[in-house]
Amino acid sequence: MVPGLGGLRQCLRRAAGAGGDVHRPRHPALPRARLEAGLAEGSGAVVNPIGLRLRGIHHAFALKGQDLPVLEDVDLDVRPGGSVALLGPSGCGKSTLLRLVAGLEPPRRGTLEADGAPITGPDPSRVLMFQDPTLYPWRSVRANAALGLEARGLIRTEGARVDDALRLVGLHEFAEAYPHQLSGGMAQRAALARALVNRPGLLLLDEPLGKLDSLTRLKMQEELVALWQREGFTTLLVTHDVEEALLMAERVLVFSPRPARVVSEIAVDRPFPRHRDDPHLVALRREVLETLGLREAA
Ligand SMILES: Nc1ncnc2c1ncn2[C@@H]1O[C@H](COP(=O)(O)OP(=O)(O)OP(=O)(O)O)[C@@H](O)[C@H]1O
Ligand SMILES: [Mg+2]
Repeated sequence: MVPGLGGLRQCLRRAAGAGGDVHRPRHPALPRARLEAGLAEGSGAVVNPIGLRLRGIHHAFALKGQDLPVLEDVDLDVRPGGSVALLGPSGCGKSTLLRLVAGLEPPRRGTLEADGAPITGPDPSRVLMFQDPTLYPWRSVRANAALGLEARGLIRTEGARVDDALRLVGLHEFAEAYPHQLSGGMAQRAALARALVNRPGLLLLDEPLGKLDSLTRLKMQEELVALWQREGFTTLLVTHDVEEALLMAERVLVFSPRPARVVSEIAVDRPFPRHRDDPHLVALRREVLETLGLREAA
C-alpha cells in the first residue's frame, strides 16, 4: 500500500506539527544473515528528495551570560537527491548546523529553505540520525521502528511501512528481537529503519557510523551509499572520517574551528560505488587533511 506521491507528501506535511518525528536513534542492531547479505532490495516506495538552500547562517549560544558564536555566514546548497558531507574540527558547529536544518531551533540570522519553503520546525520528511541508536529496550525491533508512525497516528493505515523499512535495512528476520539481542551494527540499522519508516526526503546523518567497529563501519558505508542511490533521498552527512566523506558524498564541505565557516568545498567527481584505493580519492584525502591542518596525517 504505497500512497501516491502527492498523498504521501501531503500526509507528511500534515504530520509536521505532530512533533516527535525527528528521530534520535536509540540503540543499534542487525541480523547475522543480513550482515553477510547487505541491505535488501529497494522498498519501491515513493520518496520526494528535498533540495536545501542555506544562506548567511549565523548562530550562537548563550553561555554564562555571553554569546558563544558557533556558525558564521554559512551558505550551503544540496540538490534534491544529492549527498553532501560536512567535515570540521570537533566542537566547530557541525551538529548545530544539522539541528538547524532539522528545524529543532532557528538560526540567529540567515535563511534555511527546504524545497524553496522556509524551515520553521521539525518535519517527518527531514529525519535526523545520531551515532547512538537509542532504541527503547522494552520494545521489539518492529515496535521501535513503528514509533514514528504511532506518534503520527498512521500505524493503522500505513503499518506496512514498518516491515518495508525493516526489509530495507535487512532486519526483517529480527523484527521480534529486542535491542539487547542485537549487535551494534544491527542496532544502528534498526535506528535507520525507524528513520526510513517516515520515507524521508532528507536524511540528516550525524556521525551515524561513529561508534561501530571498523569492519562493520566499512560495510555500512557501502550499504548506506547503496540505499541512498536506490531510494533517492537527499543526504547530509556529518563525519570525522575524511575517507568516509569522500566515499559517500558528491561534495565535501570543510569547516573552520568554531565559529564554523566554510573554508573549502570539494566536488568529488567519481561514480558510486567508490573504492577507497581510487588514486583520485587518495589525492583528495590528502588535500582535505591539509585543509584541516593535518599535514602529518596526510
Ligand atoms: N545547547 C547548547 N548550549 C550551549 N552551547 C552549545 C549548545 N550546543 C552546542 N553548544 C556549543 O556549540 C559548539 C558547537 O557544538 P556542536 O555540537 O555543533 O559541534 P560539532 O562540530 O558537532 O562537534 P563534534 O565534532 O565534537 O560533534 C560547541 O562549543 C558546543 O559546546
Ligand atoms: Mg557533533
